[in-house]
Amino acid sequence: MTDSGKEKSASRRGFLAAAGAGAALAAGLGKAGAQGAKPDPLITDIQDWNRYLGDGVADRPYGKPSAFEKNVVRRDVEWLTASRQSSVNFTPLHALDGIITPNGLCFERHHGGIAEIAPDKHRLMVHGLVEKSLVFSLEDLKRFPGRMNRVFFLECAANSGMEWRGAQLNGCQFTHGMVHNVMYTGIPLRAVLEEAGLRTNAKWLLAEGADASLMTRSIPMEKALKDAMLGWGMNGEALRPEQGYPLRLVVPGWEGNMWIKWLRRLEVGDEPWQQREETSKYTDLLADGRSRRFTFIMDAKSVVTNPSPQAPMLAKGPNVLSGLAWSGRGAITRVDVSIDGGKNWQTARIDGPVLPMSLTRFYVDFDWNGSDLLIQSRAMDETGYVQPTKDELRKARGVNSIYHNNGIQTWHVKANGETENVEVL
Ligand code: MTE
Ligand code: CO
Repeated sequence: MTDSGKEKSASRRGFLAAAGAGAALAAGLGKAGAQGAKPDPLITDIQDWNRYLGDGVADRPYGKPSAFEKNVVRRDVEWLTASRQSSVNFTPLHALDGIITPNGLCFERHHGGIAEIAPDKHRLMVHGLVEKSLVFSLEDLKRFPGRMNRVFFLECAANSGMEWRGAQLNGCQFTHGMVHNVMYTGIPLRAVLEEAGLRTNAKWLLAEGADASLMTRSIPMEKALKDAMLGWGMNGEALRPEQGYPLRLVVPGWEGNMWIKWLRRLEVGDEPWQQREETSKYTDLLADGRSRRFTFIMDAKSVVTNPSPQAPMLAKGPNVLSGLAWSGRGAITRVDVSIDGGKNWQTARIDGPVLPMSLTRFYVDFDWNGSDLLIQSRAMDETGYVQPTKDELRKARGVNSIYHNNGIQTWHVKANGETENVEVL
């Protein structure tokens, strides 16, 4: 991308030549060996894994990643993870590819720790402005018709929240890792509400969790009936305890806080309840002291995951720039990438499923000539919305809030490949 077309094709040839050498290595010769130097011991010597029997199937009833992937883990920031009353860790976005987040790597945000609930002891109550109050066991819910599987991102409203006043955390895991994307199995929320029978003045829904925080949020009935789900499955298996086992609310495209985990109660009402999490928290305090109320939708956002501070550039020549884009308003239609801090843009290649309200993967295949880069990405969604710069956001909202920061991220790649969180002023 930084090189001229001529240099680019020359370097591509270099890459292909190296790949050809790889085939020779596989034949036990090696490039150097062919020239009479010492052969590559990794190819010519018999290794332990070649010599001894490996584990049998009985040793690994539930599979784990290779021990060599031990650094691909959720991480927290010490000063942000104060206590079990309020804890958060982050998805290692820089170490993942494609669009699905593996279950053990989904970021967690808990307001009262992880509830460990036996599924047979769990109930969901539906009451309030309904014809008949109902209580469901998990087995009851699994017998409902209309079971569905949907991939959605969940993003905490506070994702990138530490960056409002300037570049702060060095790694996309920490700046953007309060997002995950899994396939949920469950039923439409609408199904249980209709079973209970909504009264004509049923306009809002209160969802409550069974954990120690008793997390409660008001959800407009229109959204509840449109596409919200009661989810018990996650990427084909049961939800993890961290994600609300055995039952969570799925609120596609809307802020993570509304996706009540360990869901135990749904109350139907005619107005919002004004709970703590929708008044003193999860409202955006503007510069003039007023607050934006009910900022439910997560606007389009993107981030380059590679390179990024935890995944620096390793070599000149052919490189794959990669990133994620998502929008709470629908599907991503285009992602542009800049390497000069937003002066020039080129359209990235999107690969893999492009689903509404899901993470979407993009790539730019390029040759790096070793010069400094200021890498940015800019997402666009099907409503025509374009991801703003951080300064545009600050002009509109000030810097009091920690929520809903979907501004364009900049990574500075230095000549030695090191990559840093910066802002272009
Ligand atoms: N639901 C309950 N019951 N308790 C909680 O602490 N945290 C909320 C939401 N639902 C929370 C909850 C917040 S702020 C977010 S961002 C998401 O769950 C996080 O979901 P995750 O832990 O699956 O990533
Ligand atoms: Co949150």
